Amino acid sequence: MKHIYVINGPNLNRLGLREPGVYGTSTLVDLENMLKEEGLRLGCQISCFQSNHEGEVIDLIHKSADLTDGVIINPGALTHYSYGVRDAIASINVPVIEVHISNVHAREAFRHTSVTAPVTKGQIVGLGFMGYKLALTALLEGDEKK
Ligand code: DQA
Repeated sequence: MKHIYVINGPNLNRLGLREPGVYGTSTLVDLENMLKEEGLRLGCQISCFQSNHEGEVIDLIHKSADLTDGVIINPGALTHYSYGVRDAIASINVPVIEVHISNVHAREAFRHTSVTAPVTKGQIVGLGFMGYKLALTALLEGDEKK
């Protein structure tokens, strides 16, 4: 059975409360429950993590190298400036898909840059929670290429 890590970065524990006009009213627990249900349906194991700390996000990415078959990551604001998270993703051999709930390209200019996306398999933006589901399907059905 494939094992997938879902890693949500800074401030994503505030989903449901945080800027509902941008991120919606559903919570992180709602998101994680949806993904676990989807995992059951698709026959894979899902482990969900959230951290507000860059180093912890990096540690989780390293761990995923040994323990998983793929990673879905929403690095939150770290997306836009964290070379540490980028290098952690580049250091592992399992496929990583980056997800953003909002359409970062339709927002402030600083959100248009992702320093992490170039070292991922792909990026999904602007589709809300569905982006995570699509990323899961892509990891399970995708080719073997990192
Ligand atoms: C986000 C977009 C980021 O710009 C922001 O800092 C977040 C959430 C998203 O999911 O749309 O924290 O990653």
